[in-house]
Amino acid sequence: MVHLIEDIRENENVNLDEAVRIALTQVEGTYAIVVISKNHPDSLIAARKGSPLVIGVGAGEYYVASDGAPLVEYTKNVIYLDNEDIAYISLSQGIKIKSINNIERTPYIDQLEMSITQLEKGGFEHFMLKEIYEQPKSIADSMRGRLNVAKEIVSLGGITEYEDKMLNAPRFTMVACGTSWHACLVGEYIFEELVRIPVEVEYASEFRYRDPIINEKDIVIAISQSGETADTLAAIELAKEKGATVIGICNVAGSSIARATHAGSYTHAGPEIGVASTKAFTAQVTLLLLMALSLAKKKGTISRSRYHEIIIALESIPRQIEEVLSHEKLIKEIADRFSNAKNFLYLGRGYNFPVALEGALKLKEISYIHAEGYPAAEMKHGPIALIDEEMPVVVIATNKGTYDKVVSNIQEVKARKGKIIAIVTKGDETVTSLADYVIEIPETEEMLVPLLATVPLQLLSYHIALNRGCNVDQPRNLAKSVTVE
Ligand code: AGP
Repeated sequence: MVHLIEDIRENENVNLDEAVRIALTQVEGTYAIVVISKNHPDSLIAARKGSPLVIGVGAGEYYVASDGAPLVEYTKNVIYLDNEDIAYISLSQGIKIKSINNIERTPYIDQLEMSITQLEKGGFEHFMLKEIYEQPKSIADSMRGRLNVAKEIVSLGGITEYEDKMLNAPRFTMVACGTSWHACLVGEYIFEELVRIPVEVEYASEFRYRDPIINEKDIVIAISQSGETADTLAAIELAKEKGATVIGICNVAGSSIARATHAGSYTHAGPEIGVASTKAFTAQVTLLLLMALSLAKKKGTISRSRYHEIIIALESIPRQIEEVLSHEKLIKEIADRFSNAKNFLYLGRGYNFPVALEGALKLKEISYIHAEGYPAAEMKHGPIALIDEEMPVVVIATNKGTYDKVVSNIQEVKARKGKIIAIVTKGDETVTSLADYVIEIPETEEMLVPLLATVPLQLLSYHIALNRGCNVDQPRNLAKSVTVE
C-alpha cells in the first residue's frame, strides 16, 4: 500500500490525501488502514473496507482503533466509518470523511455505551468466568424494556416496523458462524414451534458461496456477537443483493453487521472479552425467544395461556441461572475427574441438540480436547463405535417429550462402559440412577432449557481448560472477531 500510494503521489502529482483515495480504488480485498506521513505529523488518514475501524474523538485528540473497547478509557465519542470511507483527521482542521468515490459526508458522532468496569475482570480470574457469572444480569439486560410480564407485552423496538413483512415471509433463513450458529439452531426450533414459519439455518460461509435461492419475500436473520464476522457480513450483503430483508441480532453497537442490516435488535449482553462466547449465546437465544413470541402473538399462532406460561418462565431465567451457577464446586470435581480425557461426546435431542454442539465447541476451543456434539439418536449411526471405558459422554437429558429415548441412549453408552455426565431437571430419578455424574438444572419450559443447560457446560469447559493449563481467555489459533475468511 505504501509503495502504491507513493507511486500515485509522484506520478499523478496529487497530494497525500488524494493519493490514498486513488490507491484505495485500485486495491482488492478487505482492509482497515491508517496512513501517516512524516511530512504531516499532525494528520492521519484512516480508511476501511470489510474490516472494522472506529475513530475516537477526544478533547483536541483523536484515536483510531478496531473497536470501541480500547477507546473507552479515553473517550466515549466515536465515529464509525462506513465501508469504503476515508477519514482525513487533522489536529488543526478536525475530521473530514469522504468515500473512495470522492463523495463527502458529514461525520456523525456516536456515544459508546460501554464502561471501563465492563472491560475489567472485576475480581474474577478470567474474563470467561466473569462472563459466565454475568449471565443472570446479561439475560435480564437483554429483556429489559422488551418484556413486561404484568402487561403481557413482548416488544422489540428495533424490528416493529418489519414485523408485518416478517409475518408474510414464506420462510426465514438464519445465518451465522460458530456459537452464533448454534443460537440460530435453537432459534429454528423456537420459531417453527411458535410462529409456524419454516426456518433454514445456514453457516454464513456456506450460504455466501452457493448461490442460495433467496428473493424479496425472504427474511434473513443474521446473528453475531462481534458484528464483524467476515462470512456473516458477506452473507448479509448477498441476501441484500437478492432483495431479502435482513434482520440483525448483534451484541456490539455500531458494528459492521449492525449497520449493514435493514433492522435488528441488540443483545445488550455487554462487552464479551473472552474468546469463547458464553453470555452472548444466552443473550442471542433470549432475543430469538422475544422475537418469536412477539411474532407469534401477532400472527395468532400462540394461545394466550401458552404465551403467558412462556413469558413467566422467561422472567425466571436470570434467577434460575444463579441456581445453576451455585453448582460450580460439583462441576469442578467432574472437571478434575475428566481433565485428561482425549475425547468427549455430547448428546442432546430437540432443543438440547444445539446445546450439545455448543458444549462440544466450548470444550474443544479452550481445552483442546477433541469433542463432538450429536443429536442423541444419531449415536447409533457411527459415534457409538468410539465408546469405551475412557469416553466421557455428556448427555443433556431434560427433554420431556423424548426423555425415554434419551434414557435408552444412556443405557447404550453404559453397556459399552462409557462414563455418563448428565444434565437433568431438578428431582430427576431415572437418569440420575444411571449416570456417573449428575448436574441438576431447575425446571423450565423446554424451549428455555438451552438458557440453563449451556451454563454448566461452559463451567465444565472452563475448569477442564484451567486444569490443563490452557489460556482460557485467549485460546491458541483463535481470534475474538473473525474478520477474515
Ligand atoms: C465461540 O466461542 C467462538 N469463539 C466462535 O465460534 C464465534 O462464535 C464465531 O466466530 C462467530 O462470532 P460472532 O458471533 O462474533 O459472529
